[in-house]
Amino acid sequence: MKITLSVIKADIGSIGGHIAPSRQLLERVAAYVRENAGPIVDFWIAHTGDDVAILMTHTRGVGAADVHRLAWDAFVAGTQVAKSQGLYGAGQDLLRDAFSGNVKGMGPAVAEMEIDERPNEPFLLFAADKTDPGAFNLPLYLAFADPMNTPGLILSPALAKGFRFVIMDVNHTEGDRVIELNAPEELYDIAALLRDPERYVVESVWSRASGEQAAAVATSRLHNIAGKYTGKDDPVMLVRTQMNFPATGEVLAPFAIGHFVAGGMRGSHNMPLMPVPLNTGTSYFDGPPLVSCAAFAEHRGKLTEPLDCFAHPFWNAVRDRIATKGIDMRRQGFFGAAMLPMGELEYTGIIENLRRLDQRFRVRGEPSPRHDT
Ligand code: F6R
Ligand code: MG
Ligand code: MG
Repeated sequence: MKITLSVIKADIGSIGGHIAPSRQLLERVAAYVRENAGPIVDFWIAHTGDDVAILMTHTRGVGAADVHRLAWDAFVAGTQVAKSQGLYGAGQDLLRDAFSGNVKGMGPAVAEMEIDERPNEPFLLFAADKTDPGAFNLPLYLAFADPMNTPGLILSPALAKGFRFVIMDVNHTEGDRVIELNAPEELYDIAALLRDPERYVVESVWSRASGEQAAAVATSRLHNIAGKYTGKDDPVMLVRTQMNFPATGEVLAPFAIGHFVAGGMRGSHNMPLMPVPLNTGTSYFDGPPLVSCAAFAEHRGKLTEPLDCFAHPFWNAVRDRIATKGIDMRRQGFFGAAMLPMGELEYTGIIENLRRLDQRFRVRGEPSPRHDT
């Protein structure tokens, strides 16, 4: 049976700054989806930091207008609650006034895949806050292409056939500019692109043994859509596991690194990505950037209850280490690697300031140009 998994997420307002949505907001979004569930088979809703993710199962394929509309309208309903409660950033990810067929390019992040349902269908939903889609580059590379992380690549004949990476150049706003590269033959080329997570982002991963899709990532970059920063993109990702795909534990393992990603305070810093339980808010330094993971089994579109992958005690020690790593980076404040390069900052004030300062530079021995300031 063909089933589509669609996850659509948006920041439509939060309590206390960019911390977490209110219970009333979440209840309104869930109630809207429940009352208008015509196009879908099943759904589940949770928040990660200030972002609300709606996971939906259905049979209408990727990009289905009525499924996207359902999520959009649920976010509009949630935004009304956000406004009535005075939440910060009410409706901030709804960049268009009216829905126009597909939420792509309208603000919300979307990751979808149509699958030929296996007799047992384990999959993972990752949601990250205070970071951008390139945050998933390293975990996907390690899970699908590195036998040091994924022993399945040398133990399982299916995994040994490798995986195909579809990578998007997210700077190209006129259309979807993508490249397809095969692991393991083109491993170094894959690495050469993925090392630049602000520009090259894994969009999907496919099994070369069966041709099945293994992973789908929301690649939208809000500043590319809006022409200016409206907040970090806060991506979602779906990953199928087991059989022809890496085991669930192989997909989770890279998140123990706490790799540095773009995000945190004012969307403008490098901070380590911390795996957290479902429905965790944001805290230290408007971060650290966080990622949650819900594991599901699915049958004919019906979802089981989610299991909270990063709530396991193992991750407590990981979180402690990542907190220390984050504090160490924060010791150097605005300096060097702690803050993002100019083109990735969420604020333009500093650029105007630098333009003003640039006028005051002089080359020694050359006459000063006349200026009015
Ligand atoms: C992402 C997030 C941040 C903010 C950024 C700007 O969820 O909350 O990327 O968008 O910190 O925040 P304000 O609105 O305070 O300028
Ligand atoms: Mg926010
Ligand atoms: Mg957010």
